[in-house]
Amino acid sequence: MVRELWGSRLGFILAAVGSAIGLGNIWRFNYLVYSNGGGAFLIPYFVALFTAGIALMVLEFGLGDKFRGSAPMSMRKGNRRFEWIGWWAVVGGLIITMYYVVVISWAFVYVFKSFTLAWGEDTKAYFFGNVLQLTDSPWQLGGFSLEVLVGVVVIWLINWFIDVGGVKKGIEKANMIFMPLLWILAIILVIRGVTLPGAWGGIDWYLKPDFSRLTDYSVWLAAYGQIFFTLSLGMGIMIAYASYLPEDSDVVNNAFIVSFANCAFSFLVGFAVFGTLGYMAQATGQGIGDVVAQSIGLAFVVFPKAISMLPALKVFTAVVFFLALVVAGLSSSISLVEAFAASLMDKFGLERKKAVNITVAVGFLGSLIYATKGGLYWLDIVDHFINTYGLVLVGLLEAVAIGWIFGADKIKEWVNRNSEVNAGPWWDVSIKVITPLVLVVLLLFDIKSNLDAPYSGYPISALGLGLVIILGGMVVSAVLSAKQAEVE
Ligand code: ALA
Repeated sequence: MVRELWGSRLGFILAAVGSAIGLGNIWRFNYLVYSNGGGAFLIPYFVALFTAGIALMVLEFGLGDKFRGSAPMSMRKGNRRFEWIGWWAVVGGLIITMYYVVVISWAFVYVFKSFTLAWGEDTKAYFFGNVLQLTDSPWQLGGFSLEVLVGVVVIWLINWFIDVGGVKKGIEKANMIFMPLLWILAIILVIRGVTLPGAWGGIDWYLKPDFSRLTDYSVWLAAYGQIFFTLSLGMGIMIAYASYLPEDSDVVNNAFIVSFANCAFSFLVGFAVFGTLGYMAQATGQGIGDVVAQSIGLAFVVFPKAISMLPALKVFTAVVFFLALVVAGLSSSISLVEAFAASLMDKFGLERKKAVNITVAVGFLGSLIYATKGGLYWLDIVDHFINTYGLVLVGLLEAVAIGWIFGADKIKEWVNRNSEVNAGPWWDVSIKVITPLVLVVLLLFDIKSNLDAPYSGYPISALGLGLVIILGGMVVSAVLSAKQAEVE
């Protein structure tokens, strides 16, 4: 089979930026800034970007570009024993997609709610009670939340439609529309946010560093974790996307452009979010700290409340905000689907349509649990484990396997052939030393905190099942890796 290619360099960059910019940039980033010392968080965030994020992006782009394969195939070409790492990246990615699509579906439902500001006064009761119809515990699924289920079907169908279209006519074309649209929506939100009375109180809070927080290791770990998630690293996406690059592409420069565009987007949207929260704090006579809730609450509870209180353009702002979430989410979910489908195509020689059908069918079935009334609990549990034992573990294994065993030099030589900016000694230090060190520490601390206290006070049985899902994913990856490839 002839490998598909991007139509243009811009098409590739927009697709990679589309993958990176996602739900993580709009609410996760802002919540992390809020809970980790305001502006001070930006320091470890940018340190993480420069010491690990960009280097790993260069590595993933380099792998895909050199070996011209999805994550499992590229890792296999590095060394037969590495194939499992590639499978775990994309299987972990598929596990993420299962609930990621459900969060997009919430935003999709909220686009329609925006026209009547249906959430009313008590936005918390509305979100958890009326929309999710949340039960009391993870073991009470309580049937489906119908609106969410309909949203899930629609979002999966859109993913299917775009990915079946192929690299150039599906993914690239969609991102040519999604990306400009998303930036326009974001700029509208920023203008709206910063022009509100009281906005600068919020923005001041956003940018004012609380340096004392920098001595807390957990702030640093949160920053490294966020950089991985936000740059779509460790999910096999960037490897697959780079495998469709034409010969002689500038890998290092592309990695810088994509990483900077992603982080600039987060930074920009921060002005919209904190400006709006500043307005809300002033209008209610509260401090910023009192109006911000946890991450999920920020987008679906606090923001709707702030919008309802706006002096003007309420419906418009609401539609723009939730549409931005949908567009950002979709451009990421299609990349997650592609990473898995490409792996099936590469290993089993499947036609694109068949590979996408399988990926979407499995993904949709997996999403069903999160569309139930107890789904939010499962989302929270699985998300907690997969970020660490999926992305972070894969990032660590990639850095060690390629950096130390396969040889960082070989990738460096490859990516430097056509790059304006060379991957210099900084890249070796980052891939071979800093990234593995930081990630090992991150993993160890996470294991310790999991052992110290059950996560979020969930019953051990539910956490156990969450862990079984992760371990199951690892076993499936091993089985897929052990299978004889149809295409060598
Ligand atoms: N990088 C994507 C996000 O931030 C997955 O949501």
